[in-house]
Amino acid sequence: MKVSNLYVRYKGEEFFALENVSFSAKAGELILIAGPSGSGKTTLARIIAGLIPHLYPAEVKGEVDIMGINPITQGISKLTGIVGFVSQTPEMFTTSIVVIEELAMSLINRGVPRDEIIEKVMRVAKWLRIEDLLNKSIFELSSGQMQKVTLASILMDDPLVLVLDEPLARLDKKSCLEIARILRELANNGKLVLVFEHHLDEILPLADRVIVLNKGRIIANAKPRDVVKLLYNIDIPEISEAFLLAKEDFIPLTVDEAEKYVRSIKRRMV
Ligand SMILES: Nc1ncnc2c1ncn2[C@@H]1O[C@H](COP(=O)(O)OP(=O)(O)OP(=O)(O)O)[C@@H](O)[C@H]1O
Ligand SMILES: [Mg+2]
Repeated sequence: MKVSNLYVRYKGEEFFALENVSFSAKAGELILIAGPSGSGKTTLARIIAGLIPHLYPAEVKGEVDIMGINPITQGISKLTGIVGFVSQTPEMFTTSIVVIEELAMSLINRGVPRDEIIEKVMRVAKWLRIEDLLNKSIFELSSGQMQKVTLASILMDDPLVLVLDEPLARLDKKSCLEIARILRELANNGKLVLVFEHHLDEILPLADRVIVLNKGRIIANAKPRDVVKLLYNIDIPEISEAFLLAKEDFIPLTVDEAEKYVRSIKRRMV
């Protein structure tokens, strides 16, 4: 996919929420789009998901091409099977529904044969390791389990691109790690995974590339280690922060990396 010279100004607003944003991305990549609150992450996610200007009126300039489709002119309906979107605000379920029904819903609505639906539910459930949740009510799930089920329901449509707006918000450390690993696996299996986050501890070390937004503009587009200094004001891993504060040249992204680095220095000293 390719985004070129994108400008977005919400209706009635004086300032552009996105200005001159350009980048490209390809299948198999896990890209982290990071930036402080108000930097335009959700706005970019909404553009890619075909929600702006269709659901959120706005003046939009520039081009977006996702597998030959322009979500700005064509909208969300053309993106089924191409883009799967998980919004920042969790879906509020009003009726009690069992997980398996939630997963099957969109395929049932599209008239997919029953055997095919069951086969797919089982495949996706196995992938996300939620087989044991299939018969639970949505209301019985923890937030980590809920996030996995949401991801699973998006995967039922087999999108090529996943757009996830703060998928790690409100999750405990263990769930964050689990979701981050699942997202890495999805990219390894050929999906383009776009993660919009400012909680970076778990996802930063696994990302292929980080696009940093600030006040609606891209200020960096590079490998995690090359942008970690720029992310200082956001929410970088504690171990990276410690090394930055100590003014070390090498900034580890994980505790493992830090240990290896310290060991290599010790070896050099003896
Ligand atoms: N529906 C809207 N109408 C008008 N302005 C909006 C709308 N949604 C967002 N904005 C404005 O656009 C700018 C970018 O907001 P956006 O939600 O994209 O930021 P964000 O990086 O996702 O922030 P956060 O980390 O808090 O979720 C902000 O100035 C915000 O106030
Ligand atoms: Mg946001």
